[in-house]
Amino acid sequence: MQQMWTDIDAYIDSHLIPEDPILTQTLKHTDERGFPDHLAVAANQGMLLQMLIQMNKCKRVLELGTFAAYSTMWLARALPDDGYILTIEGRDTHAALGQENIDNAKLPQKIDLKCGRAADILRALPENTEPFDFIFVDADKQSYPEYLELSLDLSHSGTVIVLDNVIRAGDILNPENHKPSIEGIRDMFIAMQNNPRILSCTALQTVGCKGHDGFALAIVK
Ligand SMILES: C[S@@+](CC[C@H](N)C(=O)[O-])C[C@H]1O[C@@H](n2cnc3c(N)ncnc32)[C@H](O)[C@@H]1O
Repeated sequence: MQQMWTDIDAYIDSHLIPEDPILTQTLKHTDERGFPDHLAVAANQGMLLQMLIQMNKCKRVLELGTFAAYSTMWLARALPDDGYILTIEGRDTHAALGQENIDNAKLPQKIDLKCGRAADILRALPENTEPFDFIFVDADKQSYPEYLELSLDLSHSGTVIVLDNVIRAGDILNPENHKPSIEGIRDMFIAMQNNPRILSCTALQTVGCKGHDGFALAIVK
């Protein structure tokens, strides 16, 4: 099945995802520096993030888990020139690569990459930090329940929160799997369920070049 999913993603991309030199350059530079590209979102997923931002006319975006800043580029592409992204990456080598890709892209939007544990950085933000319009969570999965709560604290009514990789090829249903990442995702589902701060939420399974996974979406009340 994997080959067919990959071929279908290629078909979708060839029809619906326009060539963007900045995105292509980001992947090329990441590969040249010897980093695997499987951590990054697929192009058609990046486009979905872009569309959610465009739909809501967002200007301030928060991203947890930058890696090489490929998803960051998709987020930035959706923003007006005076848009702002705070993106947080925990690993020094990834943050350095992400910063290189951001610098090379020379985008008009302000992209602030901070290196450190996402939860610590979010807790250290000044009290008067303006809420974000769109939040993309793509860092360590065991912290997803914590990231959901911190994201809600940094939201306004109508903020859209997207959490990536919440299906893990069905591992969330395997009762013998107690990895912290899987337990973190299960706890995130429980935290989302009937959450008084969430207007509506769902999760979608996806298949494609990145395998079988999915994302959860919430709109803040
Ligand atoms: C799946 S990758 C992000 C991919 C990126 N969003 C993209 O689609 O191009 C997850 C990243 O989260 C980072 N990460 C893991 N734990 C973290 C933490 N506690 N705080 C911040 N970043 C973390 C990893 O180092 C890795 O670079």
